[in-house]
Amino acid sequence: MLPLASSDMGERRLDVFSLFPAAFDWYLEQVHVRRAADLGTRIAVWNYRDYTPLKHLQVDDTPFGGGAGMVLRIDVVAAALDAVYGVDCELVKQERRVIELTPKGRQLDDALAGELAQGDICLLCGRYEGIDERVTNLITDRVSIGPYVLSGGEIAAMAMLDAVVRKIEGAISNPASIVQESFAADLEGGTEYPQYSRPAEFRGWRVPDVLLSGHHAEIERWRAAQIGRQK
Ligand code: ADE
Repeated sequence: MLPLASSDMGERRLDVFSLFPAAFDWYLEQVHVRRAADLGTRIAVWNYRDYTPLKHLQVDDTPFGGGAGMVLRIDVVAAALDAVYGVDCELVKQERRVIELTPKGRQLDDALAGELAQGDICLLCGRYEGIDERVTNLITDRVSIGPYVLSGGEIAAMAMLDAVVRKIEGAISNPASIVQESFAADLEGGTEYPQYSRPAEFRGWRVPDVLLSGHHAEIERWRAAQIGRQK
């Protein structure tokens, strides 16, 4: 099982770069995210546009060779990294994983979320036709949240942040709920057993008798048999 990230490792930074930072406002207000912040995880969302060296706050441009859409410029991404980290943008990846969210990336899974929860991360969201390919000089990883194309990296970054924040010790009030969560090593990569609550019967739909029996060993056996079985 991947260990939970320890909160006594000092302040952890989860940085996100986006052209639409307001997209993260709701997420950053969530209880577990605030709890992680109180425990020393600093999540900051930076706007590329605030650091552009170009006139008229330009951030994108047409693709060389022609074609539809606009490309987020590499000089704009580089300027934002230089300014936020106070070092040359090529050095930023020495201290943290720098991840471009893109449908071309490796698919996010629970194991990767566990790895990313161990240290600082920097997420680069693209928009339009994505980021100029030379971003490969600045990143350590390319990650996708699934084989489909979103309008930008913001939703993907939020999905990734959430999967990571849930692994930070103390962010979720009941740590047992993480250990036995779907895809966790404890469930051998399977999905979590089904959960039921009151009423015990609704419209003739009954909760399995075993869960009402009070026999903990039988309940555990039943749950173990259910793992990964659901549609
Ligand atoms: N940006 C657009 N689509 C994406 C996806 N599926 N995963 C990550 N980033 C994306």
